[in-house]
Amino acid sequence: MTQLQPRSVIAPSTGLAERFRATRALSEALAAPLSDADATIQSMADASPAKWHLAHTTWFWETFLLREHAADYALFDERWAFIHNSYYETEGERIARFARGMLSRPSLDEVLGYRAHVAAAMEGLLGDPKHAELIALGIAHEQQHQELLLTDIKHALFQNPLGPAMFDAEPIGESERPLAPADDLWHRHPGGIARIGHQEDGFAFDNEGPAHRTLLEPFALAKRLVRNREWEAFIADGGYDTATLWLSDGWGWVKENRVSAPLYWRDDEQFTLAGWQPRDPDAPVTHISYFEADAFASWAGERLPTESEWEATARGQEGEGAAHDPDAGNQLDTASPIQPRGSEGLFGDCWQFTRSGYLPYPRFQPAPGAVGEYNGKFMSGQCVLKGASCATARGHSRASYRNFFYPHQRWQFTGLRLARDL
Ligand SMILES: [Fe+2]
Repeated sequence: MTQLQPRSVIAPSTGLAERFRATRALSEALAAPLSDADATIQSMADASPAKWHLAHTTWFWETFLLREHAADYALFDERWAFIHNSYYETEGERIARFARGMLSRPSLDEVLGYRAHVAAAMEGLLGDPKHAELIALGIAHEQQHQELLLTDIKHALFQNPLGPAMFDAEPIGESERPLAPADDLWHRHPGGIARIGHQEDGFAFDNEGPAHRTLLEPFALAKRLVRNREWEAFIADGGYDTATLWLSDGWGWVKENRVSAPLYWRDDEQFTLAGWQPRDPDAPVTHISYFEADAFASWAGERLPTESEWEATARGQEGEGAAHDPDAGNQLDTASPIQPRGSEGLFGDCWQFTRSGYLPYPRFQPAPGAVGEYNGKFMSGQCVLKGASCATARGHSRASYRNFFYPHQRWQFTGLRLARDL
């Protein structure tokens, strides 16, 4: 059996056990409002049932930590690997992705029992420094699935004409979306050689490295995300009906799918995890595809940033100097209605499309073993997104983080931040 061997270096952290427990608890808190039926449904192949996320993250700990490193650990149920393996070819055959929603059994209670069993067994490994790297990977993995759990159940609940709410709505305070002065809407960067990629201590996924130099021309990056009221102006101006604004593939996607607004929009409302809610015109627009982001930028006379421009701005290497705190902004802390609000800074609210394809960095080599399947094999046809969203566990992202989705996908909390040449 291939062992999971993360290549990134993480210093053994005394906080790792606490982070493990907090991450496991947050997953369960997020799913707590869901019935067994809610947690079982799957609305499309891209999305997975909440119950599957709870079980798959547990399978990850059981397979890569407990099975390999815990003496005398017996699998909770040896038949379950087939239904809870996601895409690891090195772990053998697995259920088709679109069929995850057919799993009425195990029940949600049985999955929660599986989680408790595995978490208890993990206690024996948490204090051992030689497992620190793998545990950090497992935490980051489970955090990624927390975000997917939220966006997947949102998509599933949206299918229901009754518009069910998972959480009660929460009023949004004015102070949470400060307005930048009209004359200061851009972070300016003089260009030059920037060092891009993971270069700090601490955990990172393999796709964030190696750190390398890249040459930037002078550019500016918007200080805030594009907002709903700006998107409404794009629609009112015929944005979805003007072929010249769109990439060819994007125009084909608009026509084929009859797209005329972001996902989850209806009149002046939008569907949220708190059900249908009035749309806040000053909140960042979200649930847009790369095609839509690119068309909007064309309409606005601007462009999308490259991933290097975004990262250089986040690092504050040049120009204005100040680095952006990856842990600031509107990100996931607790089970609550989760929605972009318009916080300042580069992190939070929405993942931001870049115009960079998701490709290996110079000198990138996928790690050997199962972890080599984590990122590298998806480097084809996808777009890089930077930042973090309101559904990203706080502490998960960083300047070098590379999220990636296909250009038509828009069920994640995706948004855009404009850029321009200087
Ligand atoms: Fe996974």
